[in-house]
Amino acid sequence: MTNLIPELDGLRALNPPQQPVYHDLAERDRVLAQLRSLPPLVFAGECDHLKANLAQAAAGRAFILQGGDCAETFAAVTATSIQRRLRVLLSMAVVLTYAAEVPVIKIGRMAGQFAKPRSKATEQRDGVELPVYRGDAVNGFEFTASARQPDPERLLRSYYAAAATLNLVRAFVTGGFADLHAMNLWNADFVRQAPVASRYEQLTAEIDRALAFMRTIGVDGGEAFRQVDFFASHEALLIDYEHALSRVDSRTGLPYSVGGHLLWIGERTRQSAGAHVELLRHLRNPLGVKIGPQAEPADLVALAEALDPDREPGRLTVITRFGASKVRQLLPPLVKALAATGRQVCWVCDPMHGNTFEVGAGYKTRSFDDVTAELDGFFDVHADLGTWPGGIHVELTGDNVTECVGGALDVSEADLAHRYETVCDPRLNRQQSLELAFRVADRLSGLAQPTDRRPLAPEIV
Ligand code: PEP
Ligand code: CO
Repeated sequence: MTNLIPELDGLRALNPPQQPVYHDLAERDRVLAQLRSLPPLVFAGECDHLKANLAQAAAGRAFILQGGDCAETFAAVTATSIQRRLRVLLSMAVVLTYAAEVPVIKIGRMAGQFAKPRSKATEQRDGVELPVYRGDAVNGFEFTASARQPDPERLLRSYYAAAATLNLVRAFVTGGFADLHAMNLWNADFVRQAPVASRYEQLTAEIDRALAFMRTIGVDGGEAFRQVDFFASHEALLIDYEHALSRVDSRTGLPYSVGGHLLWIGERTRQSAGAHVELLRHLRNPLGVKIGPQAEPADLVALAEALDPDREPGRLTVITRFGASKVRQLLPPLVKALAATGRQVCWVCDPMHGNTFEVGAGYKTRSFDDVTAELDGFFDVHADLGTWPGGIHVELTGDNVTECVGGALDVSEADLAHRYETVCDPRLNRQQSLELAFRVADRLSGLAQPTDRRPLAPEIV
């Protein structure tokens, strides 16, 4: 591997799947030139900091919470929408931190999650066939020929939307919004209505008491209680965009993506010899890779060799999304295969993408029970193997939508029509998200034994 960023023409020659076809190539090139001139959204040092945190998760000393929209939209780049997503993630993180007794690494599917891989190139409605919606970075959601036409200008809008989102997130997490002393306030309205309200209130009361005690004895937790680290991640899907935001860091001379702290490669674009792997393997950011039921252990080993040849701690996060009925069977061979190569990766469970189904009225949904069943399978497998369940990856929103069925408020199939607002996959609403956090917390409590955790019991290697 060299420290150079691969040429864009060479990447295009690998015929990457899931790329938009633009009619006006001169316009595309103009946009890409402009993107290349724009400042970084994140800094190399922040990416290194996240990588160091992830190395702790790989070693069993931290837990990852990665979550946000399936597809961010330009319309949802508003203070209210961003704040709601952030506070759901922060509340979940508090619940998990308290239970796991290890730090929780908070990573949003935010500030860059504007492009979607799709299983079909076109969509049909009432006999009309149009290009499928590929995310706001590519085309419009509206079902008209003009909206569905890929427009390169949207790449620039994605950059600015990511910048605006990240700017607000940074202000929130460092400017007092994330202050643990104010936890009750930032959650006041939504937690009170949630079925998990009494557990949450008990938790905040305990934290308040602990903080008051520390103040009494003269200990001030300082910034640790007032600010949090929050990282941005997205699927690195659009080769043109990702290439334009790949830069050589002036401090170290090494190439990084400056478009997000962590980038992941999706299930549909993770070919070992493909363009996505080729670009990302040259970047020094921490990387994720999604793994579905079709993956053989040898595929994952080949991917790990390509993306993490130096076995660098924190470099690779494997995000599995098998489905509730398959996780117990499919996860162990993968964990064993990677352990046999001597690698320590973060194992993260995405309990969403293997559990999607369609109901009569044409809504794509997921059942809360399937989501928790996949998580249970994930925790059981790691308990059996003696490995650390490194984290969870969830699609959620801060709004009170009805997109996933079940949960304590028992959203039914008939309820889906009430508030079905996603432009892509169904997301957990804020109550379901908090409920999920308590379920995961129950699995985590008592699990952490940071002093003697081993990556894998030697007898199973
Ligand atoms: C996603 O995370 O929205 C997604 C498309 O996932 P996957 O690549 O795992 O299908
Ligand atoms: Co999705």
